[in-house]
Amino acid sequence: MAQPHPQYMPKIIAHRGACGSAPENTLASISRAIELGAEAMEFDATISRDGHAILLHDFDVDRCSDGHGPVVLKTLDEIATLDAGGWFAPEFKGERIPLLSDALELVASNGVVLNLEIKPTLGWEEPTARAVAATLKRVWPAGAPILVSSMSPLALDIFHDLMPHISLGLIVDAVPEQWRQRLDRHGCVSLHCHHAFATKELADAVHDGGYRLYVFTVNETARAEALFAMGVDAIFTDYPERMSA
Ligand code: G3P
Ligand code: MG
Repeated sequence: MAQPHPQYMPKIIAHRGACGSAPENTLASISRAIELGAEAMEFDATISRDGHAILLHDFDVDRCSDGHGPVVLKTLDEIATLDAGGWFAPEFKGERIPLLSDALELVASNGVVLNLEIKPTLGWEEPTARAVAATLKRVWPAGAPILVSSMSPLALDIFHDLMPHISLGLIVDAVPEQWRQRLDRHGCVSLHCHHAFATKELADAVHDGGYRLYVFTVNETARAEALFAMGVDAIFTDYPERMSA
């Protein structure tokens, strides 16, 4: 059986901040989600070569900055020189890849529920989970609502050993046949999958087990309505402003 879910998770979770209208995984994107009234948001944490936890979705910095190459080959000082906004729109030029600590402080000071995804470069699961846990211990207020998730079972296990009181979610694209066993093995309270794999049968089975079902990434309101009708508990969206109605 799942652990009890410790907090309320709003039905709409802003994805990578509000990444439909600001460059993903930046302080601008987080601020935008807050301005749009998002009650919950998700972003991705990884680490630099010198072990600092930062926000980035990809293995490399190419898509979301003016730099090139794998993020784990760059020190924090090198990452701090990169422009992480100009690729999205000229008005965001000068935006930086943020430290996880700065992102956490911005979220916590605005009372938003956080889903923090640990997104390790493959092979760097352990230092990534350790850096995320150390950062949370340093800056995240005790009792503030947070759910930590990952596609990496190793990252989930290492993180759980370090911060056993924080709830975990398992992220998959396709729902595996053994999803129950995998949630149990890693002590997860929620299953996060691509919305194409959501069905009423899956939602019912997830709820029967005492878990929650969250799906990504849903940007059309009609699709969101259909998913909620199936029993999906929450959706990740790039456009929280579209979904709030
Ligand atoms: O955590 C939900 C979703 O963000 C997982 O996929 O690739 O957008 O990090 P991705
Ligand atoms: Mg993510």
